[in-house]
Amino acid sequence: MAMLEITDLAVRFATTDGTVSAVNGVSLTLDKGETLGIVGESGSGKSQLAFAIMGLLAKNGTATGSVRFDGQEILNAPRKTINPIRANKIAMVFQDPMTSLNPYMRVSDQMAEVLTLHKGMSKAEAVAESIRMLDAVKIPDAKGRARLYPHEFSGGMRQRVMIAMSLLCRPELLIADEPTTALDVTVQAQIMNLLAELQHDFGMATILITHDLGVVAGFCKEVLVLYGGTVMEKGPTDPLFATPSHPYTRGLLAAIPRVDQEEEALHSIPGSPPNMTAAPKGCPFAPRCGHAGEDCLDHLHPLSEFAPGRWRACNRSVEDLA
Ligand SMILES: Nc1ncnc2c1ncn2[C@@H]1O[C@H](COP(=O)(O)OP(=O)(O)OP(=O)(O)O)[C@@H](O)[C@H]1O
Ligand SMILES: [Mg+2]
Repeated sequence: MAMLEITDLAVRFATTDGTVSAVNGVSLTLDKGETLGIVGESGSGKSQLAFAIMGLLAKNGTATGSVRFDGQEILNAPRKTINPIRANKIAMVFQDPMTSLNPYMRVSDQMAEVLTLHKGMSKAEAVAESIRMLDAVKIPDAKGRARLYPHEFSGGMRQRVMIAMSLLCRPELLIADEPTTALDVTVQAQIMNLLAELQHDFGMATILITHDLGVVAGFCKEVLVLYGGTVMEKGPTDPLFATPSHPYTRGLLAAIPRVDQEEEALHSIPGSPPNMTAAPKGCPFAPRCGHAGEDCLDHLHPLSEFAPGRWRACNRSVEDLA
């Protein structure tokens, strides 16, 4: 049994313009200590997938399908089932640290509160452990800085605080949603190195959500490519990057700047992301795909395993895509 087992997960939002289909039938599994990258353009459903796992969908959202953690169903589970899991086993780092840090509380106090609440520690123990965790994420003078308020940290340091906070209860699964997009490139690299180190030291499984394929390459063993809330391709990172098997993945990869291709202009995928209100009948990428035919507009070619561990939702031959 995998630690995390997601089956046919769908997320819909009711809006005045109709139903938004944000996530469409996503299935995936993740074992202890494994790393999975979820990539896709803005609006492809990455965050909503994570929010559905965490039980944090907006009020107008509903999730169907199944999310099992250690065999236990957590999708739409009652609070008394989900709260202990969310507090102790699964943690999430959000893109914007200020969404989960309280601006009016000293960092040490808000971190300690997590531990007194969920681990039953005394205040003194909790503060000491919080400082140890700030130290683990390499905040210089952790003891002194713990007394500061969130706005007194730089963006990069604040993201470290967030990571420290998410690790306090030693989660078995960390979901990091664009943990570095708000940061400049150098700080981005430092944070990713730190996350990789912590992932290794703590042995936690990690889902890294990003639109940046470069970040995934260095961090994740497996990748899932999402478009229009639908899995286009998934498989082990190295072969997926070496021979992308879906036209969308190929497009994403072609859009990454490469040092060995200085002369060439960057490619971008023509067209714009799908309107998620009109749930597409066929492959969501078909309208933008140079290889699509009537069949693709008519129905989605279901995910199939075309090589060991490699899955694609496309029936065009991989050689023809090149
Ligand atoms: N509360 C809501 N009501 C209606 N639609 C929503 C709601 N929340 C999200 N959506 C829609 O769901 C779709 C997927 O959004 P999601 O936030 O998962 O995208 P994303 O892949 O995380 O994008 P980004 O890279 O920009 O963070 C989008 O079309 C978005 O507009
Ligand atoms: Mg997002």
